[in-house]
Amino acid sequence: MPNAVLKPLSPGYLDDMMGWVNNPEITGKFAKFNCGVTRQQEISHIKQMMASKTDKCFVMETEEGKYLGNISLHEIDTQAGKARMSILIAAKKERGKSYGKSAIRRLLEIAFNEMKLHKVWLIVFEENTKARGLYRQCGFQEEGILQDEYFVEGKYHNMARMAILNKRRAI
Ligand SMILES: CC(C)(COP(=O)(O)OP(=O)(O)OC[C@H]1O[C@@H](n2cnc3c(N)ncnc32)[C@H](O)[C@@H]1OP(=O)(O)O)[C@@H](O)C(=O)NCCC(=O)NCCS
Repeated sequence: MPNAVLKPLSPGYLDDMMGWVNNPEITGKFAKFNCGVTRQQEISHIKQMMASKTDKCFVMETEEGKYLGNISLHEIDTQAGKARMSILIAAKKERGKSYGKSAIRRLLEIAFNEMKLHKVWLIVFEENTKARGLYRQCGFQEEGILQDEYFVEGKYHNMARMAILNKRRAI
């Protein structure tokens, strides 16, 4: 099983990220169909994420150093000890090879062992059965369905909220 290697997000990944930020097949999974992001906007976004205390962003690479996608923690709340995870693998041909699974496992190690968080949560389109199956395999549990949470492409969408707790953390 090939492993994804996590590297801190940096401006050097601008070209890789421009490869998907305007692709509705990917952005649609995140309820963002606005596809007119310029290089300037994306570099500003990368720098903003790097400077943010409430975001911790990584890119995924193959062991040979080929860019695969992004995996991040957002809305980091140190008071409550929680953060929201997001993940995407840019190229369709790289999906289903277990990179996602290995990247999530590594991110959870960082979240729980290094950042000492208590909970990692996410929301995902209810119909995204592949992502939901993967999250379950990684130990996430369903917390509930957020009904009509997003309005995109002319209709409402339900989102599933999922989470994993750091059971090893001493209270
Ligand atoms: C979702 C995504 C990150 C998964 O990464 P991936 O590398 O393709 O996933 P993996 O190969 O590690 O794992 C696939 C797992 O998904 C699960 N899975 C796949 N298809 C499934 C299905 N139809 N139903 C249930 N589970 C499914 C399986 O558990 C599978 O594990 P297996 O290898 O034991 O069969 C990736 O496909 C992606 O980026 N998709 C587009 C963007 C996206 O949907 N992001 C998530 C938004 S919340």
